[in-house]
Amino acid sequence: MNKFHSRLLVAIIILIIIVFLCMGFMLGQFISSLITNGALHETPVEQTVQQVWIALFVCLAIALIIILSLIVRITTTYTKPIDAATKAVNELAKGDYRARTYEDYVSTAGLLGQSINIVARNIEEMTKSYEMQHDRLHTLIENMGSGLLFIDSKGYINISNRSINEIFKIEQKDLLGLLYYEAFAHKEIVSLVEEIFMTERKLRRQIHLSVGNEQKDFEVYGAPIIGANVEWKGVVLVFHDISELKRLEQMRKDFVANVSHELRTPITSIKGFAETLLDGAMNEREVLQEFLTIILNESDRLQVLIQDLLNLSKMENKGFSLNLSRVNVKELLENSLRVLKSKAVEKDIQLELSVSDETIEIDGDLDRLKQVFINVVNNSLSYSPNGAKVSVEASALDDIIHIEISDTGIGIEENEIPRIFERFYRVDKARSRNSGGTGLGLAIVKHIIEAHEGTVQVSSKVGEGTTFTIRLKKNI
Ligand SMILES: Nc1ncnc2c1ncn2[C@@H]1O[C@H](COP(=O)(O)OP(=O)(O)O)[C@@H](O)[C@H]1O
Ligand SMILES: [Mg+2]
Repeated sequence: MNKFHSRLLVAIIILIIIVFLCMGFMLGQFISSLITNGALHETPVEQTVQQVWIALFVCLAIALIIILSLIVRITTTYTKPIDAATKAVNELAKGDYRARTYEDYVSTAGLLGQSINIVARNIEEMTKSYEMQHDRLHTLIENMGSGLLFIDSKGYINISNRSINEIFKIEQKDLLGLLYYEAFAHKEIVSLVEEIFMTERKLRRQIHLSVGNEQKDFEVYGAPIIGANVEWKGVVLVFHDISELKRLEQMRKDFVANVSHELRTPITSIKGFAETLLDGAMNEREVLQEFLTIILNESDRLQVLIQDLLNLSKMENKGFSLNLSRVNVKELLENSLRVLKSKAVEKDIQLELSVSDETIEIDGDLDRLKQVFINVVNNSLSYSPNGAKVSVEASALDDIIHIEISDTGIGIEENEIPRIFERFYRVDKARSRNSGGTGLGLAIVKHIIEAHEGTVQVSSKVGEGTTFTIRLKKNI
């Protein structure tokens, strides 16, 4: 029995004692009035009965007041907390886990409130930790680099992440709840999902998809999700975009094919002329001279090609480093142009050099930078007609040196410009080969400039000319 019960019992006992005391007191009064009044005045019996009634009413009234006050007290102690507890439980049922009720350590209702609050607090904590885990999982799924798709056992898409939306350029709301074969028109995906449903086995497959105007390659990993009771939950698909890898693989293949082709051409020519000479042509002195010259030129081309390939391969190696020193820009450009002077004279091209400040110096690898300017100016001479003009201008702006190589040559089409730095890419293959180029010159230029933390820019107009702008840091 708790405190409240014992208090209630005491109150009731007191109440009964009061009622009995009152009644005893009234009875005493009644008897004494009977004795005194009865003997002296002989009061009528009705009057005495009336007095008894009044006494009884007074007692009952006092008892009623006490009972009423007890009822009020019971209501405040029991009913109100129970109401509040009911309200709190209703709120909890609605999902508001912050709802709380009165607590006291006296009444049973108060203890009930206390227990409800503990339950509410626990539920709130559990909900918070569940929400945190859910958020973490959601963030992980949303931000993973690969596309993720979950298809339920009936074929409806249940989960898709941001990468999927980006890959297929579809909004999430247009995917969720759709059947996979309605959402994806690509038959490769549909057949992959069907295969997993049928075989119940994990699959890994490379697929090529056209998405909008783009062609993309994916490695798709698909797995059946089977629950603990061997019931089907669905299929999960993960899409890794391997387009870049494929592109690099293709580049490597192209490179090997290009090298083979570039090597085969001079070798075929050398072999052919040597055979013709051996077959008797060497007896004619003029033919001998002509063929040997061709053989020598072709050998030179082979040598340049092999040198360029070695240069590229050296630069692409991880251990490649520049042999840095302070380089005077004017001297660097003069030395580079000297090598090309005879070619300019031969083509009657005016080759001009202007350097705004003779003392400008940069941190650089002298030999590699010379290679850069020889390649770029050589291109200007090669891709300009006789009598054209080629100018090289150098100026310093703050910590950057700008070197512009301009020609009045054939120019390059806008869409070809980004490609000319690719290995073996030539705008006009025949013309380039005749000019003695290997198709590797600008690829080497780009490598060297980037190793110097510089940039190369090209602006050109077909028929008017081309300008290469090279920017290098004074200090690296
Ligand atoms: N100054 C220029 N004017 C016009 N076309 C150019 C110029 N420089 C380079 N190109 C184009 O860029 C291609 C790639 O140049 P490069 O890598 O030096 O190879 P190549 O051995 O063919 O000269 C050239 O084949 C040519 O089509
Ligand atoms: Mg070139």
